[in-house]
Amino acid sequence: MTRKRIVAGNWKMFTNHKTARELASAISEGSRDAAAAGVEVVICPPFPWLGLVAECLYQSHVKLGAQNVYPADEGAFTGEVSPTMLRDIGCRYVIIGHSERRHGLDERDDFINRKVHASLNAGLTVIFCVGETLEERELDLTESILNQQILRGLRGVQPHQLKDVVVAYEPVWAIGTGQTASPEQAQSAHAFIRQRIRRHLGSEADVDPLILYGGSVKPDNASALMSQPDVDGALVGGASLKAETFLPIIHAAITAAR
Ligand code: PGA
Repeated sequence: MTRKRIVAGNWKMFTNHKTARELASAISEGSRDAAAAGVEVVICPPFPWLGLVAECLYQSHVKLGAQNVYPADEGAFTGEVSPTMLRDIGCRYVIIGHSERRHGLDERDDFINRKVHASLNAGLTVIFCVGETLEERELDLTESILNQQILRGLRGVQPHQLKDVVVAYEPVWAIGTGQTASPEQAQSAHAFIRQRIRRHLGSEADVDPLILYGGSVKPDNASALMSQPDVDGALVGGASLKAETFLPIIHAAITAAR
């Protein structure tokens, strides 16, 4: 069975009330052919715009995602947002383990693991990010870092839950730098991730996770990346902030799906 494809836009801490609405509508309008081609389009705006983007996406094929979550249903957690709140406002997806939170905000694997479980229990699909730093790559530690992030971050996830886990391989040195992993580097990391997840979390037969590539994906490199056999789509930061750059990436996924 062919795997579906996903192109997800991570808006990070960009956009305002007006541009968020315009961008969501332009993406929805411009990617109408995606669903029929087996390509799921996801956009992940900042928290304050989730409600208004949800309204813009009413009856759209484009799915809504959040960039973060706190691992509890409710409670005295000032400033945090729960997975059930995200579901309530219309989110289907949540990004967990992004390197800007792992490295910039010192989020650890065990906290990431709690977020994964809380989100799966609430019915969200998790976009689980992994990736090595430049130093780790140069020390030839890429596979051991990926292995560790997978084992710790997805600890306790059951094989039947893996259909709601999408992995994003995002080499830290490629995020926001304009320096993309080569298609061969991406393919090799993706094949490794697929094999690790199958071995550790499921039986070989019943687990076939979707694995997205992220890190300076642009219209001019998207096709080469997504034509690799183990690259099932893209998690896009900078280029997701303009319809003129995000829509060609979605169309590259549609072409690759054919
Ligand atoms: P970038 O970000 O496309 O701007 O490199 C990717 C990401 O952080 O998900």
